[in-house]
Amino acid sequence: MTTGPLKLGVIGSGKGSNFEAIALAIAEGRLCAEVRLVLSDNPRAGILDKARALGIAAEALPASKFRTKLEPEIETALAQKLLDAEVEWVVLAGYMRMIKAPLLERFPRRILNIHPSLLPAFPGLEAWRQACEARVSVSGCTVHWVDAGMDTGEIIAQAEVPLLAGDTPESLHARIQVAEHALYPKVLSELAATRR
Ligand code: GRF
Repeated sequence: MTTGPLKLGVIGSGKGSNFEAIALAIAEGRLCAEVRLVLSDNPRAGILDKARALGIAAEALPASKFRTKLEPEIETALAQKLLDAEVEWVVLAGYMRMIKAPLLERFPRRILNIHPSLLPAFPGLEAWRQACEARVSVSGCTVHWVDAGMDTGEIIAQAEVPLLAGDTPESLHARIQVAEHALYPKVLSELAATRR
């Protein structure tokens, strides 16, 4: 059994509230881990500012000509940055592109993602809006292993969030994010205790 802090690399495209929740759990001793590197495909992403404010190495990736994936050479360089930083587990936190072979092959079953719905319901973009428009009574969030599909990897854990009368997509997303901020650190903490 491997021991010691989980060595995490976090990749995100947005404001970084899930990264912040993970960093807080580490600081408060609820999660035995260290974030060794934060990467973003968006040089203006809040996740980079949040990481730097905490003294964590943070870098933007080179611009890509694609919107939903990276060029293989950029993804290969991304994977190498993670390996150079001695990252062992890759945590996707609001990363908006598909993961392809260069990263999947270097981190087999070592890439996790959080998605704002109860998968397999509502994969893809704006899952909270999809849930609202489908008028389901319960949605939530899912942490899953990442495979080559879109939000198709094996589910690790889920948290339910009921829809309320008068919910908008935005109000639902706000409550789902509260659930995400509890679930992701909890899953990582369980991983730290059970990994081999
Ligand atoms: C979260 O809702 C997550 O489920 C989705 O993207 C959002 C990222 O939010 N994949 P943040 O950047 O962590 O605040």
